[in-house]
Amino acid sequence: MKRLRVIVVGVGVMGKYHANVYAALPNVDLVAVVDPNPSRRCEAKEAYHCATYPSLEAFLAETTADAASVAAPTSLHYSITQQLLEAGIHTLVEKPVATEVKQARQLAMLSQEKGLVLQVGHITRFFQAVDILNQQVSNPYLIEARRLTPYSRIRDVGVILDLMIHDIDIVLGIISSDIEEISVSGHALNGSPHEDVAAAQIVFANGCIARFLASRVAPDAERSLVVAEANQTLRFDFAKEPHTEIAIFRPLQDEGAVSHVVVDRRVVADENPLRKELEHFLARIHHQAHPIGTLEDDLRSLDLAMRLQAQISDRNKSKIHIPH
Ligand SMILES: NC(=O)c1ccc[n+]([C@@H]2O[C@H](COP(=O)([O-])OP(=O)(O)OC[C@H]3O[C@@H](n4cnc5c(N)ncnc54)[C@H](O)[C@@H]3O)[C@@H](O)[C@H]2O)c1
Repeated sequence: MKRLRVIVVGVGVMGKYHANVYAALPNVDLVAVVDPNPSRRCEAKEAYHCATYPSLEAFLAETTADAASVAAPTSLHYSITQQLLEAGIHTLVEKPVATEVKQARQLAMLSQEKGLVLQVGHITRFFQAVDILNQQVSNPYLIEARRLTPYSRIRDVGVILDLMIHDIDIVLGIISSDIEEISVSGHALNGSPHEDVAAAQIVFANGCIARFLASRVAPDAERSLVVAEANQTLRFDFAKEPHTEIAIFRPLQDEGAVSHVVVDRRVVADENPLRKELEHFLARIHHQAHPIGTLEDDLRSLDLAMRLQAQISDRNKSKIHIPH
C-alpha cells in the first residue's frame, strides 16, 4: 500500500490529537504541520520531527501532500479546505465543515469534481455507543440530548456549531423523516457575539420530538442522550469519556399503570474514536471503505444547525440582553 504524506493544518488542542494519531499510524508520514502560532509550531517540531509552516500558502508554495486534516478555527474551515482541495489534497475537516451551507455545498462539489475524499470530523459516528444506538432504535417518539460544559475554547462560533451539532448529527442519523417544526431560544453571555446556551425542539413529520440543550457556561460537564420508543427507552451517559454507560428500560403494564424495568445496563469503552475516524479517512483514500456518513449527511446536519442559529439571531435582535 502506498505510504501517504499527511499534514495537519491547525495544531491547537484538536489538531494535536490528529497529529498524534497520524504519527502512530503505519503507512503514513506526518510530513508537516501548519499553524501561525510559533509556540505551537515549536512544540509540533519537537514532538513529531516534521516540517512546520506558518501558513498553508507557505506550505503549498514549497511542496504538497496526499492528505490533510484541518483543525484550525471553524471560521477558517471553508477557505483552508477549498485551498487544499484545489491543490489536489484529500481533506478531513473538523466539524462543522463550514459556517454557511452554501460554502459546504461548494466544497462537496469541488471534492467530487476533483475526485478527492472530503470527510467531515463528526467523531460521534465512530463511537461504539452510537453504533449500538443505530442498531437498536427504529422508531423513536421522543429524544432528549444534553451537552453541557463549563468552558469552551471555541469563540468564533456559537454553541450550536460548537457542541449541539454533535447531537444534531446523531439524531439525524436515526431519524430520516422530514423536519416539520423548529423552535429554539438561546443566550449570548459575557459579551460573547454568539450564543453560549441554546435550547431547541425539532418535530419531525413522523411525529418524533427531539429536544436539544447545549451550554458552554454550565457549572458541570454533562453529555447524555435519552431515546424513547413504544417498547423501550435507551439512556446514554457519555460524560465519563471514554466510557459510555448505556441503560435500556422496558415499560411494564401493571393493572393499567406503566412502570419501567432496566433490562440491560452496560458500559462500552471508546478508547480512540479519532483513530478510527482517521483510519477510515485513509481507507477511503485507498478506495478500501465506503463513507460512514456521506457529504449529504454533513450538509443536512449543518443546514439544521444553521436554521437554529438563524432563528436565535432573529429572536435576539428584538430582545433586551441579560446583564453580565
Ligand atoms: N470533533 C470534535 O469532537 C472536536 C472537538 C474539539 C474541537 N473540534 C473542532 O476543531 C477545530 C479546532 O478546535 P480546537 O479546540 O483545537 O481550537 P484551538 O484554538 O485549540 O486550535 C486552533 C489552532 O488553529 C491555529 N490556526 C489559527 N489560524 C490558522 C490558520 N490560518 N492556519 C492554520 N492554523 C491556524 C491556531 O493557532 C490554533 O493552534 C474547531 O473547528 C472545532 O470545532 C472538534
